[in-house]
Amino acid sequence: MIFNHSNFSIINENSLVSNITSLLGSTDRLNFMDFGCGIASLYEKIPNKNFILFDKNKDVLRLHDKKKEPNICTIHSLDELLLNEIKPDIVLLNSVIQYIKKENLLEIINFFISNFPHIKLIISDIPVHNRFVEFLLLFVTNTKDIFTIYSDIFTNISNKDYKDLDFITYDKEFFQSIEGTNIEIKKNFYLFKTRYSILITKD
Ligand SMILES: C[S@@+](CC[C@H](N)C(=O)[O-])C[C@H]1O[C@@H](n2cnc3c(N)ncnc32)[C@H](O)[C@@H]1O
Repeated sequence: MIFNHSNFSIINENSLVSNITSLLGSTDRLNFMDFGCGIASLYEKIPNKNFILFDKNKDVLRLHDKKKEPNICTIHSLDELLLNEIKPDIVLLNSVIQYIKKENLLEIINFFISNFPHIKLIISDIPVHNRFVEFLLLFVTNTKDIFTIYSDIFTNISNKDYKDLDFITYDKEFFQSIEGTNIEIKKNFYLFKTRYSILITKD
């Protein structure tokens, strides 16, 4: 598996869930989609009517499939949402878009906004700086957790597949220039203080 699920990920998830709850209030009657879900089991932490899991890594989806919980469904392409009339209310992309090229991310945002006009897209853990600059800044911004963070980073970069991944940064103007959307910029829902989060709704 390219991405590990460390102790620091678990602390981060608590911060993520608490930020989502403050932003949205009760989510237990909503269809919640985790886009780029990885191996984290956020459905155990976020109250929901149904939880939709999507990841481009099929092995990750198989891991979740094994749990066979009745309110969880995994999809292998976004078209499955339309084909099976699954209507997500909230879509979360946490710590995912740095691996997605800008033109593809725009297509993804447009897909959700045009097919599901009432949807809320939460994109969190958005990096502004390249990996090297971020590595240095973290020492200042996340001093308390720095040993855990650096140990996580070293675990990741010792994996060749991880090193080969794109790492794409996104400034706020990129999102603010997307036509037909409202963008709310938020502090990061994850603990990396060099990054930020946003909420996207249809204009
Ligand atoms: C750092 S992990 C984050 C996992 C999870 N969201 C979390 O917060 O723990 C990034 C995940 O994004 C997935 N991913 C990357 N590009 C993707 C894409 N274009 N579509 C769907 N998933 C993608 C990867 O397979 C990986 O599981």
